[in-house]
Amino acid sequence: MSTQNGFAPGLEGIVAAETQLSHVDGLKGELVIAGFPLAKLAANAAFEETVFLLWHGRLPTKTELNDLKNELAALRPLPTATLNLLRAAAPAQTTPMDALRMASATLDLGSSKGDHLNTAKMIIARIATIVASYHRLRQGEELIAPDPNLSHAANFLYMLTGSPPSDARVRGLETYLNTVVDHGLNASTFAARVIIATQSDLVSAVTGAIGALKGPLHGGAPGPALDTVFEIGSADRAEAVLQAKLDAGERLMGFGHRVYKVRDPRAEVLSAAAEKMYRADGDMALYDLAKTVEETAVRLLAIHKPGRNLQTNVEFYTALLLHGLGLETDIFTPTFAIGRTAGWLAHCFEQIKYGRLIRPQSRYIGKMDNEWTPLAER
Ligand code: COA
Repeated sequence: MSTQNGFAPGLEGIVAAETQLSHVDGLKGELVIAGFPLAKLAANAAFEETVFLLWHGRLPTKTELNDLKNELAALRPLPTATLNLLRAAAPAQTTPMDALRMASATLDLGSSKGDHLNTAKMIIARIATIVASYHRLRQGEELIAPDPNLSHAANFLYMLTGSPPSDARVRGLETYLNTVVDHGLNASTFAARVIIATQSDLVSAVTGAIGALKGPLHGGAPGPALDTVFEIGSADRAEAVLQAKLDAGERLMGFGHRVYKVRDPRAEVLSAAAEKMYRADGDMALYDLAKTVEETAVRLLAIHKPGRNLQTNVEFYTALLLHGLGLETDIFTPTFAIGRTAGWLAHCFEQIKYGRLIRPQSRYIGKMDNEWTPLAER
């Protein structure tokens, strides 16, 4: 931790919450979600199971899982005003993350104020509908109504394309959503906790968190990470292209992390899921190229920033997996939000229980004794 007289730039190393939701060990490269090592949970759980786990601290029974699936499915349709907003946003070339942020703020329109749990279910259900619907509108395509017989992940893929997805693709997406569902006190989760700690509401907390997730230093990196792989195009160009970016002072997207100083454990899980999917599709070219890009980037970063331990982060293989699922680059970050919403809401529940306003201090470094100059004399 680097504190200067109680000041920790970026709050680095400061513990600002206790949580039972996830444990991140950046030196060992460990991530535990509500008691489960990531690798055990991510590839096995249905997304709704993970949601239940985070919100209730245990796995659901079969009946509880079915109930949650049915409740979420029933809550998917969007308020008319939300749809109208999305329809207005598309011709204005609003980016999918901005549209998600605008639309999420309208989510409680038309729904009677329920308790926190019911509101949370409504938010989870509708965030996915917003992302899929807005994607269709941007492509100039007709909206597809949600299918209540499909799971959360399967329905999202269905609403994007209009065809029911294969089991392998649903599994790939569920592994992704589970992998990104929670990650300690990351920036968007912190934003959500700060908002709910003022006794604001869940829709406000999630909307603020979406704004925080959007930035390239948080959730906005997978698109650019994939762009780099495409720009490189063939393994023999990896070193020259990456070196040129570093020489130009650019950051390599998909590498480096505030907490992880070894390979991000989520990169491990997502790389395995991506490999499975590309293998099933019978075309390993992009996956193999990405592997070379990864090895080259880590090697060059070690030379460029010695001692910084800049390793592969979650975004690099997010990009590969989501691309393999057929998702367009511009909805990678909104899809991240679909998973992380469950974690944001779980943190809100913890924060509501804890009940303490989050209010750190700043250290004033400005002047103290300015003379007042009347406007006419300035
Ligand atoms: N490429 C090139 N250089 C990088 C880098 C990257 N991906 N990540 C960090 N660095 C450099 C920084 O410029 C800094 O150099 P300096 O000490 O000479 O100023 C040094 O390594 C330490 O980085 P720092 O910015 O202090 O790390 P951080 O903890 O503040 O930032 C990230 C972490 C994630 C914001 C940063 O690694 C980054 O920008 N990565 C690329 C974007 C990305 O993949 N984001 C997704 C995160 S999950």
